[in-house]
This record gives sequence, structure tokens and C-alpha cells, in this order.
Amino acid sequence: MSVAARASNVRVDQFFTGAEARFDRWRSLLQAARAWEGTARQRPEDEKYQAAITVSFAELRQWEDFFAYPGQALLRSLSERIVSGDAGGTARLVQSLSTALLTHSYRSNLTDWEGEEQSPIGLSDRVPGAGEETAPHRPYFEVLVVSPARPAAWSELAQELRKLRRPQDKFIYEPVFVGSFEDGVLATILNGGLEAVMIYEGIPFASSHHNPVLREVLTSHLAASGIGANSVQYGLALAQGLKQLRPELDIYFLSDREVEKVAGDTSAACVRRVFYQVEEPLELHLSILDGIADRYDTPYFDNLQKYAQRPMGTFHALPVARGKSIFKSNWIRDMGKFYGLNLFLAESSATTGGLDSLLEPTGNIKVAQEKAARAFGADHVFFVTNGTSTSNKMVEQALLAPGDIMLVDRNCHKSHHYGAVISGALPLYVEAYPLTQYSMYGAVPLRTIKKALLDLKAEGKLDRARLLVLTNCTFDGHIYNVERVMEECLAIKPDLIFLWDEAWFGFARWSPFYRRRTAMGAAAILESKFKDPAYRAAYKEQEKKLGADLDPKDKSLLETRLLANPDKVRLRVYQTNSTHKSMSCLRQGSMVLVKDPDFHTVEEQFHEAVFTHASTSPNLQIIASLDVARRQMELEGYELVNRAIQLALDVRREVNSHPLISKYFRVLGADDMIPAEFRNSGFVDYLTPGANWATAVKALKEDEFALDATRLTLVCGSAGFDGTQFKNLLAAEYDIQLNKTSRNSVLLQTNINNTRSDIAQLIKVLVEISQGIEKKLADGGTKGREAFASRVKSLMTDVPNLPNFSSFYCRFREDPSSKTSEGDMRSAFFGAYREEQCEHLKLSSPEIDKRLKEGPELVSANFVIPYPPGFPIMVPGQVINTETIEFMRKLDVKEIHGFSAALGLKLLNPAAMQASNPANKSASDVSGNAKRKHARAAAGD
Ligand SMILES: Cc1ncc(COP(=O)(O)O)c(C=O)c1O
Repeated sequence: MSVAARASNVRVDQFFTGAEARFDRWRSLLQAARAWEGTARQRPEDEKYQAAITVSFAELRQWEDFFAYPGQALLRSLSERIVSGDAGGTARLVQSLSTALLTHSYRSNLTDWEGEEQSPIGLSDRVPGAGEETAPHRPYFEVLVVSPARPAAWSELAQELRKLRRPQDKFIYEPVFVGSFEDGVLATILNGGLEAVMIYEGIPFASSHHNPVLREVLTSHLAASGIGANSVQYGLALAQGLKQLRPELDIYFLSDREVEKVAGDTSAACVRRVFYQVEEPLELHLSILDGIADRYDTPYFDNLQKYAQRPMGTFHALPVARGKSIFKSNWIRDMGKFYGLNLFLAESSATTGGLDSLLEPTGNIKVAQEKAARAFGADHVFFVTNGTSTSNKMVEQALLAPGDIMLVDRNCHKSHHYGAVISGALPLYVEAYPLTQYSMYGAVPLRTIKKALLDLKAEGKLDRARLLVLTNCTFDGHIYNVERVMEECLAIKPDLIFLWDEAWFGFARWSPFYRRRTAMGAAAILESKFKDPAYRAAYKEQEKKLGADLDPKDKSLLETRLLANPDKVRLRVYQTNSTHKSMSCLRQGSMVLVKDPDFHTVEEQFHEAVFTHASTSPNLQIIASLDVARRQMELEGYELVNRAIQLALDVRREVNSHPLISKYFRVLGADDMIPAEFRNSGFVDYLTPGANWATAVKALKEDEFALDATRLTLVCGSAGFDGTQFKNLLAAEYDIQLNKTSRNSVLLQTNINNTRSDIAQLIKVLVEISQGIEKKLADGGTKGREAFASRVKSLMTDVPNLPNFSSFYCRFREDPSSKTSEGDMRSAFFGAYREEQCEHLKLSSPEIDKRLKEGPELVSANFVIPYPPGFPIMVPGQVINTETIEFMRKLDVKEIHGFSAALGLKLLNPAAMQASNPANKSASDVSGNAKRKHARAAAGD
């Protein structure tokens, strides 16, 4: 297929990552080379194969300009072999180059740089670490040099750089030269091994590559990151653009003019150092290495390693420290053997002697957290060793006081509900849209959130709405338009605080596509938007139309794209992420990210919350792995995340297009997971014919919700399995583990750990299972087929309706007639501590139906959380209605937290609660407290 023809076919799944597409191109070249070699011996006159490899090589050649390896010399050698008709030599060289690329061996192996034979092209001067074979491993990376010099001069420049290498350098790099703004962007997109960029002043704009596929990649990425080169000073524009694509890159600017002026230019803030071109090449080299060292440096982990190597007498309460009780034991020596000595040498309960205190960090944990803040784009980061369950409760306790209103997705993780109990804040549940067919919820529409805020305003309670809590992305992959949610909410309440639970989404920072939809990415966008005079002018226009104080009775506000008042907003954003869920971090490692100009006003509370929840014996290995996870993401996160997304797209494509698998299984696309009304761009799915880079980018920019491609909902009900059954089958028979299940689906996910082999294994297993179904159906006769059809129908169509939150019982409402539904869940929760106030009713009991019809109302005493779906279908103080009971009765899952089938539903007994009991606050008590608290706040107390 010609290059031009290919371009029209570029689908997003074919090119999500440059690296995977690159490997495919090398594989195609290898196939072509082998085919040529095979025929050349028998039919040397047949030129078809030589012509094929010539085309294949030409196609690959222009992409290779963006990588240091194999580099111009080896590619030239390959070209010469093809032209000279050396089929065998071509096949051998392609084989060795593609192996080196696939295994990344060229990053440490000298011979890879010499081709497949004994240095046929004499490139010892190009080899990383040449002449230092015995030196310890030095991580290898590539440096992009964007230079206006003639390409002929590039190899000389490269030599100059190589001459600067010193034996004591901790890292080693090879330069990659390009000559324009556009090629600079392309190289940064395609080459995940780049860690630093040198930009010379005076570069031209246009790419020298006339490849329509490259053009498409370039255009969509420029659009995705909003890079625009409207400046004549393309060098600085490029620096800014690249920082948007990959904020972790170190950028150096080389000018031959007045460098002081360039350095003083505010647009050069993204540049790590400005150099006068011809001066101090060694300084430049050292700066490049220093920039990498800064990211590589893991202060806590490094210190822990040093600590572990020191002789240490321990007289504290941690017998496993140093491992003597284990390695000398007669009975538990195997534990030592399994985990290895270092784990025990690195165990300590000390917070001194090179180790720091997680609860009050002043040393290397503090520095590690500061580095994480830089990496994630936050002002502050706090490491947490008890999972995001704890991080969420910490943030909520820190930000909320009794009587505050917390708007929260009812379908969120249970830690938030407990956060409301702990803080005494009144949860105001906002409902996500249901995906009834798959027994799961989507995300909360912005309209619902705006309505809740406007209702609070109408009721005179907006000042008490302090925090909005949303899950981004949801368990099932719904990603919010974070920027828009915050902007429109701030238009209604300029000081509303946001907590984005990004338990699953920490990795998204390293994807230029997803970054804008993360809490920190969106906060950065809004921060600059609010400073933009054009935004201020647009807001003034809105103010003329709608007034400065939005009228909550104005229904049109729900449909209007609201702008926030840039002079009033306080952009206060918190994010929690389970680093262990998406990065190389030990289980329970989590982070709290803070970007809040008013953090100083809550800092004391925040520390109190840390003291409340954090263990006083935090696990040192978890802290160290948080530090290391940050290092990895800053150095290779871009490459790894892109690969995870690519693999997910591969699974989607393979499952949905496989003739056998797709008869029984299907991975849900964006169109299944997100109703059309929330996909304004018209985007259907990543794999829909016609979908390409541009459509995916547009959707990520504009739509209310997007789907995280790495979260794959695989429908298994159509294969006759319920989610739990299928999960168990995969685990028991095929050693495949997965995460979540629903009535008729399972959730698979790819992450930075997955490989193409994992995907191949999954597909093979699905084929096997599908073959098993086929056989069973073929052998089972009509009865068997009918039974299968009826099972599928039951799983796929007889699905229970998902019950919405009903209401809090009037006793737990300040004003039961209020339009807004917040309730005092904490009083209900502790009310259930009094046995005399509780009753139990069996789920099947007719008494339940009677009470539903005639009263008194059924009031839940506790959280009832079935797994799946994993959200509380009852919370303390909630009135239980017919839908909830129906849902419970239809539930066929075994694990239901807060519910014992033997005892029945635990209810608060309204009659008993009427009796005076000092532990129970009456509704008026609640509002009295709230009034007192807010009077205190008003008085500045
Ligand atoms: C949305 C969400 N938030 C928080 C958590 C809790 O995270 P952790 O397991 O790190 O405690 C989970 C766990 O599954 C979750 O799904």
C-alpha cells in the first residue's frame, strides 16, 4: 500500500504509540527481507522481492530520522545492501537491527551499533560508552537537537557532543538531529527515549518530511496539546510546545544573540538553561546530565539503600529489621530466602540516621514529595502508605467540618462516604447516569451538579457547599471533562473546592491526550485561562447578559456554558491517586496532590488529618516505591503509558473483530459506555470506521465524558457467564487475574506492566473458551441450546434496575421540606451504635413489603455495599424504598458488606429513635449546630 493510501487509513488504534508502530514497520521490513533472501537463491532474476523491500525500506526510512539508533550510518549501509542486490546481507542486518530495537539491547550493547557483522562500517566512535566496556551500567537516553545547520554538518556536531563524554558520567546519551519546528514536535511525539532537547535559535518552521501519515500525527498532537507556532521566534515556541506535550523533558536553548534577553523573556520560563551557542559545550553536556540526575535521584530510596548497607544494632520494636530472627530461625528461614536479605536490612522503625519521618518529614521524604509535586504538576504532594482509601479520608477530614455540605457521587468509593461520617459533613448525593444493561453506573452529568449547586443557592445554603468529590476516571473508565466541570461550578460558587479521586488515573499525567482531563492538567489550563485578558472580556460579556450574581431560578443556566469570574475564583484542587494501581509502586502506596492557593488556611487541619489516619509505623518499602515510581514516570512514563493505551486498543480491536471471539464476547466502546448526549463531538469509538487521530483528539477536548481506552469492559453475559463466574474461570483455569465484575461483564485493564505477549495470551484464552462454547452448543442438542439462550437472556436482558439514592430520613434532614437532599449521615451512623434503636428484618420477610406500603418507613442503619457493583445501595439514615428492596432481592452476589442474610437488613427503628436519647440529635439540633458553626465562621473564629 502506498504511503498516501495508508494515510487515509490512519486509525487511532494503529498509531497510538510511535514505538509499537515502529516495531511493526521493522517487522514488515524483516519479512520482506526474508522473502527476498528466500527467492534470491532460487530465482535471482525475480526482481519483485527486491522492489518490495525497497518500498518497505523507503517507508520506514523517513520515520527513522527521529531516532539515534540505528542512525544514519547503519541505515546507509542497509540501503547499500538493498541497492547492490545483497539479499542475504540485507536479511542479516535487518534481523540484527530489529532485534536490537525490540529488546532495547542497543542501549547497553556495543556490538548492536556495529551491525550484524564485525564492525563492517567502523562506527566505534558512535557507540555509546565506546572504549568503556567494563564500566558499570549507565542508563542510556537520547537528546533531541533541533538545529538550523545544514544536515551535512550534523554528524560533525554529533562528534563534538560525543567527545564530551567522561568516564565518570552516570548516564550516556546519543544526539538525534532534526532541522525544524515541526520535526522537533514529531521527534518528541515518536521517540519515547528522548529525555532532553537542545533547541538552536533560528530554526525554520516546516518539516522536511513529506509523509502524510507523519503529517496526520503531527497535526493531531499539535491540536491535542494546543501547540501553536504563531511566533517568528520558532525556537521558544517549540520549547513551550514541547513542554505541553511532555512536561518532564529538560529543554535547553542555544542562541547566538543577546542570550540575556532571551533568558529574560517570560516565554523562556520553560527552558532549563539558555546558552550562548558556541560557548561552554562542556557546561551544556553537564547540564544535560544534571537534568537527568535530578529526575533519576530518588532521595528516600537512595538513602534507604545506604541505610541497609550500614552495620546497625537495633533495639527498637521491629524484630524483622536486619532479618536475624528470620535467617537464623529453624522454622521460618524460607521467608528470608523468598524475600531476600535486602528487604530485612531495609526495615526499620527509625526516622533518623538517614531516614525521615513520614508524619513530619523534614529530610529526604520531604524532598521526595517535592519531586513528586514537580512531576505531577502540583504545589504539594503527600505520600500515603495506607492506600487512597486513607488519602480520601484525610482530605475530607481536613477540608470539611460538621455541617458543611459535600457534593458527592453516590457511586463513589466507600472511603468518601466514611469521609462524610468522620467529618460530620452532610453528603449531598449527585447521581451518575445508569448503564442499567451492564449493571453499572457512568459518571455524574455536569447538568446534575450545576442543578444541585443552583438549588443550594436557591435555598440559601450555597455558602455551606464546600467540596465537590468526583471519581476521575471511574472504575469503568468514564473520564470527566475536568476543566469544564471546575469552570462551570466556579461560575456558580467561586470558592468551591474540588477533590478528584483519580485512584485509577494517576498514570494519565504522562499521556498528552489524557493530561488535560486530569485534576492537575485541567487546573493548569484553568490557571492560565483565568489570567487571559480574552477570558476576562468574555466573562464580562456573560456578566452583562446573566448578571454578576447568577439567578438560580433561571433554568437556562443549566444549558449555558458558564464562565467563572476570573477576579473572584479561588482554584482549589485536590487529587488522590492510588500510585500502586497504575505505577510501579508497592500495594497501598498512594499520593495526595494539592494545588490550592489557600492551602495555608487548611494546612494545620491537613496535618491533623494525616496524624489521625496515618499509621505511626509506615512501611518504608512503600515510601521508597512511591519515590521510585515517580522516577520511572518522569523518565519513561510517556513511553510506557502510550504502550498501555496501544495494547488496550489492540485488545479492543482483536476481540471485536475476531470471527469466533466476537460471537460471544465484546469489549464495550465509548458509544456503549457514554450516551450520545455526552459525546457532542460526534465521536463514536476508537475503532469505528472513520475514527482517527483527529476525531479522538476532538472528543477528548470537547466531550462531556470520554472513555479511558485502557479500561476494557468485556461483556461475557452473551457467552453465558455472569461476571463473577467468568472471573473465577479465568483465574482458576487460565491464571488470568482481573479486577471488577458486573452482572454480565468483567473489567480488564492494561497498564504499564503489560506486554504484547499478555495480550496474545488473553486472545488465545478467549478463542479457547469460545471454541468450548461452540462445542457445547453443537453437542448439547436443542435443549442445550435453549438453556444457553435462556441463560444469556437472563444475564443480558433481565437486569435489575439500579436504584437511585432515595432520601435521608426526615430526622436526619435539617429541613425535610428542603429541595436539596443533603443529610446528617453521621448521626444516623452513630445512632446505630445503640442496639435499642435498631431492628433487623429478613430480606424476604412480608413485613418489609407491609412497611413499604403502610410505614413506618424503613431506615437503613448502615452502609450496604454489594460487590459487584461495589457502591453503597444503602447508607446510614437512608429511607429504603421499593426499588432498593427489589434490587437487593434480585442480587445474586455473595459478597455484600453490611448485610447478613441470616440476620436481615439492619434498620434504625424510628419509634425507638423518637424516644429521647442524648446520643441522637434531633433535626433541629443538627441545624442548630450548623448555624452555630457558620456563625463562628462568619465571626472569623
Ligand atoms: C475510585 C476509588 N477510589 C479509592 C479507592 C481506594 O484505593 P486504595 O485501594 O488505594 O485504598 C478505590 C479502590 O478500588 C477506588 O476504586
